[in-house]
Amino acid sequence: MTVDYTERGMLKYSEKLLERFRNPKNIGEMENPTVVAEEGDPQCGDMFRMFLKIENDRIVDARFLSFGCAANIATGDVTVDLIKGKTVDEAEKLQIKEIAEALGGLPAIKMHCAVLSYKTLKKALAEYRKTRSGAGPQG
Ligand code: FES
Repeated sequence: MTVDYTERGMLKYSEKLLERFRNPKNIGEMENPTVVAEEGDPQCGDMFRMFLKIENDRIVDARFLSFGCAANIATGDVTVDLIKGKTVDEAEKLQIKEIAEALGGLPAIKMHCAVLSYKTLKKALAEYRKTRSGAGPQG
C-alpha cells in the first residue's frame, strides 16, 4: 500500500478534505431529530453520531458530531451534504466511494474514517425504517 505524506511527514489530504475539516458546515447537535444513530470504529476507537430530520420520507436536515480524526470530520460533513434533500430510498443508495470522491479522494489508510460516517448513516436510516414500520403510514 502506498501512503502519501507531506514533506513534514504528515498524511497528504486533498484540499477539499482539508477545507471540509477546517470549515464543516453540518457539525453540531440537532433539536428534535427524527432519528439519532451512533457508531464506533473498533480499529481506532473513535465515535460518530448522526442526527436526521425526516419529513414525508425526505431528509430535510442532517447534522453530525465526530469524536474522530480530520478525515472523519470531513467525511461526516460531506456525507450529510450528499443526503440532505434526498428521500430515504435515495440516501440508502449512497456509496462510500461517492463520499471519498466528493472529497477528491482519501488516503487508503483513512478509508475506515469514511466507513464510520457511512455506517452511522446506514444505522440511522435502518432505525428510521424500524420506527416507521411500527408507526403506520404518515408523514
Ligand atoms: S482515525 Fe478514527 S475516525 Fe479516523
